[in-house]
Amino acid sequence: MSEGILQPDKPEALEGDDRDLFSKFDDIIALREGLLSQGREDPFNLVMEKVLSPTRAICNGRETILLGTYNYMGMTFDPDVIEAGKRALADFGSGTTGSRVLNGTYQGHKECEEALREFYGMDHAMVFSTGYQANLGIISTIAGKGDYIVLDIDSHASIWDGCALGNAEVVPFKHNDVEAMEKRLRRIPEGAGKLVILEGVYSMLGDIAPLKEMVAVAKKYGAMVLVDEAHSMGFIGENGRGVVEDAGVIDDVDFIIGTFSKSVGTVGGFCVSNHPKFEIMRLVCRPYVFTASLPPSVVATAATSIRKLMDAADKRAHLWQNSRTLHKGLRDLGFKLGTEEAQSAIIAVIMPDLEKGAHMWEALIRGGLYVNLARPPATPANMTLLRCSLCAEHSEEEVGKILDIFDKAGSETGII
Ligand SMILES: Cc1ncc(COP(=O)(O)O)c(C=O)c1O
Repeated sequence: MSEGILQPDKPEALEGDDRDLFSKFDDIIALREGLLSQGREDPFNLVMEKVLSPTRAICNGRETILLGTYNYMGMTFDPDVIEAGKRALADFGSGTTGSRVLNGTYQGHKECEEALREFYGMDHAMVFSTGYQANLGIISTIAGKGDYIVLDIDSHASIWDGCALGNAEVVPFKHNDVEAMEKRLRRIPEGAGKLVILEGVYSMLGDIAPLKEMVAVAKKYGAMVLVDEAHSMGFIGENGRGVVEDAGVIDDVDFIIGTFSKSVGTVGGFCVSNHPKFEIMRLVCRPYVFTASLPPSVVATAATSIRKLMDAADKRAHLWQNSRTLHKGLRDLGFKLGTEEAQSAIIAVIMPDLEKGAHMWEALIRGGLYVNLARPPATPANMTLLRCSLCAEHSEEEVGKILDIFDKAGSETGII
């Protein structure tokens, strides 16, 4: 790997630098400066000057196909969703200016929770301001000091942060390894509170969890189970309820966490549950209580989108077709992929290192294609990835064009 990217010349240390609380960021500052000093386009500073549709935008001055958004079901420009948002903005104003437990619960928040209860067929639904806050709030509130959390080592940052906030004992296990998970559960002292946290789809490689086996093991040891379905809602499972539905374990899990920032196409987070005491969470969960609620226009767009996702079998089928076509096409071109076959709407292309990854990313964006460049610590096993996420609104022709751009960029950069 070139030293240019990872180890540019360090400036002379200034007097008093050791007291600078920013000195802990020196490595990442150097890494970024190294990347930019080579004249590369900054992969972490892309600007969408105009968004033309769920799959196209003008980015850095060029018309670009979007293959790195979480807009899996393409709901952002759905006419009913837009209309619902406009109406709520006009009727209820731009924001609630308050917490859900004081002045921040409007009719729209209740309707959104009703839509979620129906979507999942669950008794309770609680809407948070983001998915990050839903994990932070639910995990930290239910698992506190003296309790144990057993979780996959590749869990999302919001899950780790929820664990840290609650102060429970955190016991990670190797990614998707059922035996390793069981071993950790077996060692937990008798009588201790236990929470197992899993994700339906892991967002870096786009692989799914063996939920059938894992949920059975968790139950065998008397643990509660929380599954984050951020990347599967709307798409995976017969009714789009996620990997829990596909694996036939939706009735065995205690909490499903999700977000509105992906398939739902707006912003917000939620937890659904059948636990009879769940409603108490509204009074004891700090990231729910001590923050402003979502604007009326956002909950109106979310509720409309969720209801439409209940009846989106055709979109789901088309998204699966896109995902499989892209996976096969990239593999046939000679790229190394994160999974053997398409398991979700995320296809991860593994790059040899960050420098080559950044070079390939730039060749793609110059060719008119946006994907996510992902690097450690967000990625597992120190990998650099070009993460492609498909949308149900990508046409067959667009998927073909995407493959052409990958082919050209891959040859230009010597990756294939
Ligand atoms: C697995 C997972 N959980 C939670 C979140 C947080 O969602 P939000 O964007 O709504 O904060 C994300 C976001 O990327 C995620 O990937």
